[in-house]
Amino acid sequence: MWQKYALVTGTDHGVGLALAEELLERGYYVVATRLNQEEVLIDKLQESYKEQLAILQLDIGSDDSVAAMKEQVAALVPHLDLLINDAGILGDMQKVLGEELDFEEMLKVINVNGLGALRVTNALAELVLRSEEKTVVNISSEAGSIANCEREGWFGYCISKAANNMQSALVHNNLRKQGGRVIAMHPGHVATYMRGHLDTTAKLTPKESAKGILQVVLDSELSQGKRPVYVDYKGDSLPW
Ligand SMILES: NC(=O)c1ccc[n+]([C@@H]2O[C@H](COP(=O)([O-])OP(=O)(O)OC[C@H]3O[C@@H](n4cnc5c(N)ncnc54)[C@H](OP(=O)(O)O)[C@@H]3O)[C@@H](O)[C@H]2O)c1
Repeated sequence: MWQKYALVTGTDHGVGLALAEELLERGYYVVATRLNQEEVLIDKLQESYKEQLAILQLDIGSDDSVAAMKEQVAALVPHLDLLINDAGILGDMQKVLGEELDFEEMLKVINVNGLGALRVTNALAELVLRSEEKTVVNISSEAGSIANCEREGWFGYCISKAANNMQSALVHNNLRKQGGRVIAMHPGHVATYMRGHLDTTAKLTPKESAKGILQVVLDSELSQGKRPVYVDYKGDSLPW
């Protein structure tokens, strides 16, 4: 029996993988979910954390995949103190109004980024509510802020992250009645392969981002109440 239990989605690489590693270092039992079996970085972690890490396959864009994951998680953990919905995709960043916009692709991005976290949280809410901490962290983005929006493109991504923020608010309203909370988190501009190649314009490493996120979520006194918080990895608030 471990003291704390966490589940992180999107641990194939990037911020999700770093979050899983940081949580293992903090002594959490971690259920890590990956999309692609060929991505083996998470397996390397299992060499050091044999008993403390379970790896499940999960496509957060699929009802069936989430339902299968739910059964597997229920057999692994008694509750979930921390659920981190990290998995996400980018979509087109170039096209602006008047160009040939790819609405099929946008729907895919919205399904994964906007609805994926809700699919997963809905499936695991019972386990979250059975825990002491009852904390859900949705890795959103500054791109989800309507108040700060200055981009002209990135339609799928920005719309999907705004939707992700709204589901954070709705889920928070459900969970807070039973002592739970939701945090909408911008991880910073992180050097990952989300753009299909290493984003060398980003100065933050996945490890630095993950450390910051967990310090904000687990070590700082975030004011929690009627509304969820929308903060970055340093704890600074973003406007919705
Ligand atoms: N990097 C940044 O600067 C930045 C800024 C703001 C917000 N974010 C957010 O941070 C989160 C992590 O992104 P990252 O930068 O670490 O990029 P990343 O390395 O590409 O990580 C995204 C992860 O999600 C997985 N994934 C994609 N679609 C999935 C699906 N349908 N089901 C399950 N897993 C899926 C990916 O798996 P595969 O790669 O194997 O397909 C990958 O492991 C995302 O939500 C992203 O929107 C990142």
